[in-house]
Amino acid sequence: MPPDRPDDAAAGMKLRSLLFVPADSERKFAKASGIGADALIIDLEDSVAPPRKTLARGMVKELLGAEIARDWAFLVRVNPLGSGLTIEDLAAVVRPGLDGILIPKVSGVADIELISNYVDALEVAAGVTPGHVKLLVVATETPAAMIGFSSYATPSRRLVGMTWGAEDLGAALGALSNKEPNGEWTFPYQVARAQCLFAAGAAGVAALDTLYGDFRDQAGLAESCRIARRDGFVGRIAIHPDQIATINSCFTPSEADIAHARRVVAAFAADPDVGTIGIDGKMYDMPHLIAAKRALASIGEGV
Ligand code: COA
Ligand code: MG
Repeated sequence: MPPDRPDDAAAGMKLRSLLFVPADSERKFAKASGIGADALIIDLEDSVAPPRKTLARGMVKELLGAEIARDWAFLVRVNPLGSGLTIEDLAAVVRPGLDGILIPKVSGVADIELISNYVDALEVAAGVTPGHVKLLVVATETPAAMIGFSSYATPSRRLVGMTWGAEDLGAALGALSNKEPNGEWTFPYQVARAQCLFAAGAAGVAALDTLYGDFRDQAGLAESCRIARRDGFVGRIAIHPDQIATINSCFTPSEADIAHARRVVAAFAADPDVGTIGIDGKMYDMPHLIAAKRALASIGEGV
């Protein structure tokens, strides 16, 4: 997340690993709460069957009321606008303890503004500090979303993160598959991934890569995370506890990365009148300085 983001509360939310937990499973919640995820996304949407939606809402309300000690952000994925369930979901979960809401199947900034307005009223009603509840979106799940990305160039209040998904988009389009035989995304879904990355950059929020479905394949997850981090994603959605350690390690700069970033920052600080310097026979200029500062900011080192 850029260090100059005006919404400071957002900068306080660490978003490397975000684990989905179906809201109607006490067993999974118990399992998830001590495993090192930066955020749990308690899911009211697709992992909860329609007959259990009301029960699941009640369970989330109870979890929030329990005020358990935790070192992770408490996020809830609500049902999408258009499902007829969103307002009841929000009314049940916007209460003290909730840190954020993940909105699925958004079509652009207008949807975020609408939810934000609902949350304004619900925060006041529940005695929550105005603006505390942040928003994250799944930005690529509808065809309309794919042609509405320019709306993110105007930053939205409350928005702190953006992720993408290929399954619902594929279903909406009637695609037969979203993967090549070698496991890579087909072209339309590479576009969705890249659009999410660019839109998050334009909005100044965290770009979070989509889930890695094969939760027994640690090597595949690590390689996929390496590519995500290389491209600019700062964290990732998880669906299984076993994925958290790999994701955290991949999206945390290594000792060598940090040492190098400190060197770059120090070299520019030592000579404020130059825009380009050489270190170990390689050219460094402003983009390198920005990258170095970003790496240090991600470990809380003020620059
Ligand atoms: N959160 C918390 N605990 C989880 C978990 C999750 N997302 N996924 C698995 N676990 C638990 C299991 O309950 C099991 O616990 P136990 O030992 O107490 O029985 C343990 O981890 C091992 O699980 P495992 O047997 O490897 O997997 P599974 O077959 O039980 O579950 C899924 C597989 C995919 C159903 C499960 O990982 C899951 O529910 N993921 C989240 C799905 C979701 O929320 N999707 C919405 C976003 S796409
Ligand atoms: Mg979905």
